Amino acid sequence: MKLAIGSDHGGFRLKKEIIEHLKAKGIGYKDFGTFSEESCDYPDISLEVGEAVAAKQYDLGILICGTGIGIGIAANKIAGVRAALCHDTFSAHACREHNNANILTMGERVIGTGLALEIVDTFLNSQFEGDRHLRRINKISDIEKKYQK
Ligand code: RB5
Repeated sequence: MKLAIGSDHGGFRLKKEIIEHLKAKGIGYKDFGTFSEESCDYPDISLEVGEAVAAKQYDLGILICGTGIGIGIAANKIAGVRAALCHDTFSAHACREHNNANILTMGERVIGTGLALEIVDTFLNSQFEGDRHLRRINKISDIEKKYQK
């Protein structure tokens, strides 16, 4: 498995903890920045990670900002991205099983590192269940197509 990971300054410290966790587990990743706590704009990171995941260059993505909200809203503008904000482990497996979420978003200012790492593990270890959920995912794609220029 290869992951794309990124954060703005508000998620920089949690991103570092997640990267250490991925390294310890031998999970491959590319860090798309940001690379310091200097203020930056989260949509820039959403665009890089979102495009890489939508193009299937990576299996899944992780995006962190202060709340996990802005970075996910921006990523979800990219066709093919299904970014899910998860601050609990139930959502972390349900968004994979039901929504085939391909990007996990979290907020460093919202949760602690311990729970965030459990959410990462749960997200990575869960699989899309297909079946009726595929029909619904396809309807999301239809909405994307309707609004694509
Ligand atoms: C940055 O201050 C903050 O607005 C950002 O990290 C995020 O929380 C936006 O949704």
